[in-house]
Amino acid sequence: MTPVVEISADAETTGSRVAERIAALIEAKPDAVIGVATGSSPEPVYRALARHIDNGLDASAVSWFALDEYVGLPLGHPQSYRAVLERVLIDPLGLDAASLHVPDGAAADPDEAAQAYELALAGTTVDLQILGIGENGHIGFNEPGTPFTTTTHRAGLTRSTRMANARFFDSVDLVPAECLTQGLATIMRADRIELVAFGERKAAAVAAALCSPVTEQCPASILQTHPDVRFGVDADAAGGLREMHCVPG
Ligand code: F6R
Repeated sequence: MTPVVEISADAETTGSRVAERIAALIEAKPDAVIGVATGSSPEPVYRALARHIDNGLDASAVSWFALDEYVGLPLGHPQSYRAVLERVLIDPLGLDAASLHVPDGAAADPDEAAQAYELALAGTTVDLQILGIGENGHIGFNEPGTPFTTTTHRAGLTRSTRMANARFFDSVDLVPAECLTQGLATIMRADRIELVAFGERKAAAVAAALCSPVTEQCPASILQTHPDVRFGVDADAAGGLREMHCVPG
């Protein structure tokens, strides 16, 4: 099935729509397993979800699984993805930090930590996975050229990804060069996927993901082969679709 594309006026509207679907999932399945991304794109979703909690949604039995984590940041570093997710998701929603699972990027043996995370994921089914997309088409931290068959693994970050994330650090050199990330095969096991992308900078990646041939050079293009994917984008991020006269879904 082709991914569905939902174009909204702005990021907050997309966030509200995605959060509504997540809230409906939690109401139907209180112990749902939800995969969460870090970065700027999903923040409107988490903000909108917090409003559902304020209005009485009970998410206390949900398990949350992060997509990825930097390797080498000390435990508790404010830019570690565990710390970020605690700040933008766990605390505002009033959830128990124990419900959040993140690969252990501070482990003495990161490869072993990647395997342990894959094992934890293998024992469950992610009901809904939230994704962002990199300007180069990465999902999770699966950079272009990553085999579609990968499971959770240790990976290097490209210079362009480190530069894109330098806004969260004092300089690009402080952005870790490695991460642990769910692999593309891991992500594809999720029952449902909601990818969100905003702004002109994401337009080319969104268009390549949806309208170009499925290729490892654009990791997000694998989503064309998933049975239940929705891209929630604003008008700017949809710009490349118009240019390519591509109207999926
Ligand atoms: C984050 C992640 C990445 C980001 C992507 C977009 O957990 O896995 O794939 O989703 O780099 O980042 P933002 O949303 O900050 O533009």
